[in-house]
Amino acid sequence: MKRTTKRWRASVGAAVAGIGILAATALSAQAAGSTLHAAASDQGRYFGTAIAAGKLGDSQYTTIADREFGMITAENEMKMDATEPQQGQFNFSSGDRILDWATSHGKRVRGHALAWHSQQPGWMQNMSGSQLRQAMLNHVTQVATHYKGKVYAWDVVNEAYADGSSGARRDSNLQRTGNDWIEAAFRAARAADPNAKLCYNDYNTDNWSHAKTQGVYTMVKDFKARGVPIDCVGFQAHFNSGNPVPNNYHETLQHFADLGVDVQITELDIEGSGSSQAEQYQGVTQACLAVSRCTGITVWGVRDSDSWRASGTPLLFDGNGQKKAAYTSVLNVLNSGEGVPGGGDPDPGETTPPPTGGSGCTATYSEGQKWGDRFNGTVTVTANGNISSWTSTVTVSSSQRISATWNGTPTWDSSGKVMTMRPAGNGTLAAGQSTSFGFTVMHGGDWTWPKVTCSAS
Ligand code: G3I
Repeated sequence: MKRTTKRWRASVGAAVAGIGILAATALSAQAAGSTLHAAASDQGRYFGTAIAAGKLGDSQYTTIADREFGMITAENEMKMDATEPQQGQFNFSSGDRILDWATSHGKRVRGHALAWHSQQPGWMQNMSGSQLRQAMLNHVTQVATHYKGKVYAWDVVNEAYADGSSGARRDSNLQRTGNDWIEAAFRAARAADPNAKLCYNDYNTDNWSHAKTQGVYTMVKDFKARGVPIDCVGFQAHFNSGNPVPNNYHETLQHFADLGVDVQITELDIEGSGSSQAEQYQGVTQACLAVSRCTGITVWGVRDSDSWRASGTPLLFDGNGQKKAAYTSVLNVLNSGEGVPGGGDPDPGETTPPPTGGSGCTATYSEGQKWGDRFNGTVTVTANGNISSWTSTVTVSSSQRISATWNGTPTWDSSGKVMTMRPAGNGTLAAGQSTSFGFTVMHGGDWTWPKVTCSAS
């Protein structure tokens, strides 16, 4: 349930070293949301987790899940292989256990997933053509009917696009039944449960410039134009060092939202630890808050030990159920209410001053969006030769302060006016390669561009 009382928000004092959302550090004397879902609810969002039915007997697990989350996804129990193990014989026992646990604890449920090339039951895997099409549609109809009126949203189709540079559909037995299989699944789901929000869900669709993102965007745009019933797009958001949170994430979310669909972060996990992981979680949370139609965030599991990739410690609670730095950063961002401002303009007017830098790297400042009280800036760090890491300073004027950062690890000097940014992960750049980080400046009436420098090692 959405709470309507807005909590008192502190203004920010001096900048401090550490995690980039400074506003979040000044919340001590207020009644901020003390759990993820309470804080998200204050922002008109939900905060959820994936749950495994087999862990509902673990009291540490259920205590955390009950306390912190308001939206529940069945990690595996509502998938095709679980719900229709033999053709025409449906088994909802595990899915129902999760639904019952969630609803009896006052939580909503995201259904996952009606049609997918993976985790198909054995009988379906070798099917093809009209027989498969009919079996898939029957599955969608039967499962959505069973849960009719009980789920907030369905991932109707999961992961139908290919990785890589094609921007095309993934080859699969479902795709080979005809390109219209996705819209057929959405129409069947709508007919079965007219009140559930119907989502397309995928991974590696976070970076706006990636072909896969563009492929999905084109499909959703086409669906909206032709009246195919789609209400939302899920961004799985499985991140690691090889697939970091992109700095245009909020733009991606906003572009999709501008098509007239809700966007949701549906399976968030970020491999890593400490402040680096915390900062990336912060960036994702900010990106969602920046987009009014980003209706919620779900993390893909409760404790690190519950994760499908436990060795990457990608979640908000450690294996002992203790809150991690990432938890605190997410909670603080939710309580501060500060998103990356204004993801609505994907192409802000940019002007580039002469670059500044030392011999090893060059830092270039470019102007981003502007608002009455703040502006965004991006620093692009370019390696002049092969470098193993870099450090960039950003100096703001006495009336300015940096209120948020993304895609880097910041520290500040004692004046709070000089931010030193280091790479969020591996800082290695080959000659000519670039990376960038961003920040928001509360300008206090002074629109002077920050001064930037770069040094490499
Ligand atoms: O329950 C059986 C157990 O009885 C058996 O002994 C064991 C041996 O393999 O397997 C167990 O089932 C495993 C199941 O997870 C429950 O742990 C399956 O093998 C395993 O394949 C399954 O993995 C799931 C995976 O989807 C399957 O694709 C993960 O838990 C689940 O987190 C993951 O979730 C997916 C989303 O649905 C879609 N997006 C990506 C995401 C991560 O891969």
